[in-house]
Amino acid sequence: MKNRIFFNDGWLFSDTFNESMLLPKCTGKFSEVRIPHTVAQTPFNSFDECVYQKLCVYRKFFNTETSWKSKKIILTFEGAAHSSEVFVNGKFAGRHDCGYTPFSLDITDFLLAAGKKNVLAVKLDSRETLNIPPFGNLIDYMTYGGIYREVYVDVRNPVYIQDVFVRTSSNHFETEIELNTDCIPEGYSLRQRVENSTGADVEPSAQIVTGIRGKKTLTAADAAPVVAWSLKNPALYNLVTELLDEKGKVSDTHCVRFGFRDIRFDSTGFYLNGIKVKLRGLNRHQSYPYVGYAMPKNMQYDDADILKFELGLNYVRTSHYPQSRHFLDRCDEIGLLVFTEIPGWQYIGDRNWKSAALDNVRDMIVRDRNHPSVFIWGVRINESADDDEFYERTNALAKKLDPSRPTGGVRCIRNSRLLEDVYTYNDFIHTGKNAGTARKQDVTDTEKGYMITEYNGHMFPTKAFDDEPHRTEHAVRHANVLDSAAKDPLIAGSSGWCAFDYNTHKEFGSGDRICYHGVMDMFRNPKTAAAVYKSQADADVTGDVLEVSSSMSIGDFPAGELNGIWIFTNADSVKVYSGTSFVAEYTREDSPYKYLPHGPILFEDRIGRRIIDEDGISEKYAASVKSVLNAVMRFGEKNLSVKDRLLLVKLFLLRVLDREKIKKLVSKYAGGWGKAGSVFRFEAYREGKLVSSILKAPGTEFSVSAKIIRNVLTEEETYDVTEIRLCVLDENSNLQTYCQEAVIAEASGAVELIGPRAVSLKGGTAGIYVRSCGVSGRGLVTITDWQNRVIKIPVSVKIKKR
Ligand code: GAL
Repeated sequence: MKNRIFFNDGWLFSDTFNESMLLPKCTGKFSEVRIPHTVAQTPFNSFDECVYQKLCVYRKFFNTETSWKSKKIILTFEGAAHSSEVFVNGKFAGRHDCGYTPFSLDITDFLLAAGKKNVLAVKLDSRETLNIPPFGNLIDYMTYGGIYREVYVDVRNPVYIQDVFVRTSSNHFETEIELNTDCIPEGYSLRQRVENSTGADVEPSAQIVTGIRGKKTLTAADAAPVVAWSLKNPALYNLVTELLDEKGKVSDTHCVRFGFRDIRFDSTGFYLNGIKVKLRGLNRHQSYPYVGYAMPKNMQYDDADILKFELGLNYVRTSHYPQSRHFLDRCDEIGLLVFTEIPGWQYIGDRNWKSAALDNVRDMIVRDRNHPSVFIWGVRINESADDDEFYERTNALAKKLDPSRPTGGVRCIRNSRLLEDVYTYNDFIHTGKNAGTARKQDVTDTEKGYMITEYNGHMFPTKAFDDEPHRTEHAVRHANVLDSAAKDPLIAGSSGWCAFDYNTHKEFGSGDRICYHGVMDMFRNPKTAAAVYKSQADADVTGDVLEVSSSMSIGDFPAGELNGIWIFTNADSVKVYSGTSFVAEYTREDSPYKYLPHGPILFEDRIGRRIIDEDGISEKYAASVKSVLNAVMRFGEKNLSVKDRLLLVKLFLLRVLDREKIKKLVSKYAGGWGKAGSVFRFEAYREGKLVSSILKAPGTEFSVSAKIIRNVLTEEETYDVTEIRLCVLDENSNLQTYCQEAVIAEASGAVELIGPRAVSLKGGTAGIYVRSCGVSGRGLVTITDWQNRVIKIPVSVKIKKR
């Protein structure tokens, strides 16, 4: 029987190193820490990446339990960045050279007698000079350091199930069971059953009992009836594999969660359960402000939820390394497809480096191959050059470990050698005015599948506090690429660069160690471009979406000329009013984006029907009158083009307009410098019902809104963290993008803050992280704004230790 003990508490940490710290007895300055842990908390931006690059030591004491007699004690680190040497009671127990994959060590023989206290010491190297992926050259992301994913010990019987891999095809499943040893006692057998999510057995054909002939056993069966894992209904099952001893008693149990689903790529696209899915995704870095990679389970869950439910994606690429199992678990649960890949960035190293990369292929696939959400393995170093000898090996290994999934490997070169199943290409062709995507045939002549794995990003960095035209352009560029990819049947889909802004090295970013490439900022607050994605999903995923790109403030535009106002919605239609006057109603057909499910709509004509309904101009001449009126408002009557002048004369001759009338209309419609601010209302309708509305009007009351994502923190495997998202809104809930004031946050009781107490708003938004501190009970977060207004947010902490 497996008995898992989490080792996330009670660690001692030193950010300096000397050899004696690995011995049972040592001196030195240690602080007490919990896992996930970062070797150095960092500021939000403007810091030197050297701060997290060091040799350090983690130590932990633990007793040998009497119940461990004749058991195997397996110690697992889920993620330690980047190179670890593990010592138990002063003796070297093993090492691991990758910060993104897990490793397990059998420490049974290193333990002291029952009741005695053991010392576990980890020498951790987080220097970027290591000769392992992703290091060796420049990298456009910070790599941090620390034991930043969970640690645990499994107490196992001497013969145990090491791994089970399940593959499915409609309701058929095949499994590979691997035991830890070849020496299996006589009479042992294996039994398997499939349970549905409520724990009920899937009968009758899912029961298998089989003898054991060696370390590896293969089984196959049909389960019926089953529900396929899909994006809308990600049905999950458990495969329970039991090892039975000669008396038929259960001696080990291994449970794997999986889904029944078929995936296929071909030149016509990507198919899930035989149905074509146009992949619409973004790239995710797993980093956060202050703590880098060190965020526990629920924060990983929240990110998956953000991608699916706030950005409406059906796919995410875990650029550029395997990410937390919690993140993948959540993707399985909510139906979010995942492209995961080995660590690396543009650079391929020497023989040893490549051998570490091959280990990474193995560790990634063995860890993640039961996740139904994972639909492709990235087995090339992101954006590296062709290297057939190397990539033949990564592909062969991937196929050996998982023949059921296609391989890809992200490249930025055209006509590169395709040893994989899918040509996965970073297409940065779009510069704003040209085509959104290159044509497949201009990139590769392969008949195999083709997908775009990155676009935009560095082509148009955008800060949440950039001016409106810039933020709007960012959104438009994302829409342009999405539409272009949607149009092209040869493109299986695309993932933009990227979901969230991220800290990066000095050679990249905006000079403050941030790449402002996200459609959300580092705190996961949305920029305008987020609305492009969110509005593509149906309301059952993202809710009713209605967003307008503009604050309708003329002063953010050269010469006060407000333009480029976009409406993002997944509703049937949007009605626009100026004050109480109806201007126009827009539907999906009005969008210039013809291939998107819900193309953004350009709100250009702010006069709309008012010219007919209120000003008595007939339908027949409305368009001409508006055109001439807009030109007069923009350039003045004296500066009209010849074409507009002729049109004006024509309208005068036809008595549609006269001098008096044109003066009246200009004064009515020309908002502008020296004129009162305008008021617009947008109403979104679905099946004739008002589902959402926005009022854009100059605000007079401004306050901080603080939204806590979860107000109950639960400690299970380790501490829990939640975010409080901050934004400054006016009385109509319009974001005050340029409010950069600071708030002071304080936490008391059962919670504490991560990061600084003083948090400045950036683009009118910010975030605060709150973490549990090992005690159950109530906590309070108090946020005081710059006008001494106070928001109190109660939080409670539950301890459910496992
Ligand atoms: C790509 C790279 C990403 C990121 C992006 C910025 O070339 O793969 O990691 O740097 O550019 O646009």
